[in-house]
Amino acid sequence: SLQRTFAVIKPDAVADGNTGNILAEIEANGFKIVAMKKMQLTQAQAEGFYHVHKERPFFGELVTFMTEGPIVALILEKEDAIPAWRKLMGATNPEQAEEGTLRKKYGASIERNATHGSDAEETAAFETRYFFNAMETV
Ligand code: CMP
Repeated sequence: SLQRTFAVIKPDAVADGNTGNILAEIEANGFKIVAMKKMQLTQAQAEGFYHVHKERPFFGELVTFMTEGPIVALILEKEDAIPAWRKLMGATNPEQAEEGTLRKKYGASIERNATHGSDAEETAAFETRYFFNAMETV
């Protein structure tokens, strides 16, 4: 059924000038862009976004990377948007991502992997509300 997911174009892809390419692929793949915001995260904001990973060894590096420059936060809508967006992104590690996926094309490493997408309905709900208020998501 029609579903929404939360997506991020990460600082590496924004800095590399790939925002437009990624937005074009999003629309070409039938996603509706419900909301979009370009912003630079503070350390506290990035830590809050990734709080589920706070015990992981890569947490500090991940937060540093996510705050190094602007990101684009998005709400995307499509039939089964959560798995559909994860499929378009490809595997977390660009080296393992399928040809044609966003991370294969625009990612450089497991950390600098160009895009983020929610992995389930509950995380999509949390992440969407973390970045967008009710009026911005109508
Ligand atoms: P993302 O989908 O944004 O969710 C958490 C992120 O942590 C993930 O993408 C990766 O970019 C990052 N990540 C996962 N595993 C590692 C790792 N082993 N080293 C560095 N970063 C990682």
